[in-house]
Amino acid sequence: MEKAKRRGAAGFTAALAVCLMGALAPASADEGAVDYRQNTMAAVGGHMHAAVDILRGKVSHSGHMALHAGALSDLAGIAGTLFPEGSAGGDSLPAIWENGDDFAERLAAFEESAANFATAAESGDAGAIGTAFQGLGQACKSCHDDYRAQ
Ligand code: HEC
Repeated sequence: MEKAKRRGAAGFTAALAVCLMGALAPASADEGAVDYRQNTMAAVGGHMHAAVDILRGKVSHSGHMALHAGALSDLAGIAGTLFPEGSAGGDSLPAIWENGDDFAERLAAFEESAANFATAAESGDAGAIGTAFQGLGQACKSCHDDYRAQ
């Protein structure tokens, strides 16, 4: 996740430079799909890190938990659209497009566990929030272990 942070900062500077040059179009549609996938996954990572900050008591924003969990659930709902045919690249392994059925199961587990987390966060029940958070973290890991370059 540190890697993502560094890349995020560099990516933002690069994106800004591109905007300043007035060249908003990506070099190719595939490159656009990889950028969008990484930016969206970085948002998923951001909401997860923010949730961890709250869970660890780094900040007293427990009232924000439902917002982060709801955003994670919404983002999980579009995760399946981030891997269109022909968008290989970035840290996405080719196995994504070779094992379509298995990959679809990881996506479904992501959606389900994120929805569970959102429900738990809405309830405000600390025990349920902790359990649901662990389930969601497991869904991230299970997909990254097999489908993301480490
Ligand atoms: C169904 C598979 C799958 C699930 C579930 C999943 N990810 Fe990912 N994630 C990927 C893949 C594949 C990449 C690599 C994307 C690329 O570079 O093309 C990635 C990339 C990332 C990145 C790096 C983004 C960047 O800046 O390059 C972060 C951060 C991340 N995921 C966080 C998470 C978190 C947190 C969760 C769970 C809440 C999660 N992901 C769930 C497949 C998944």
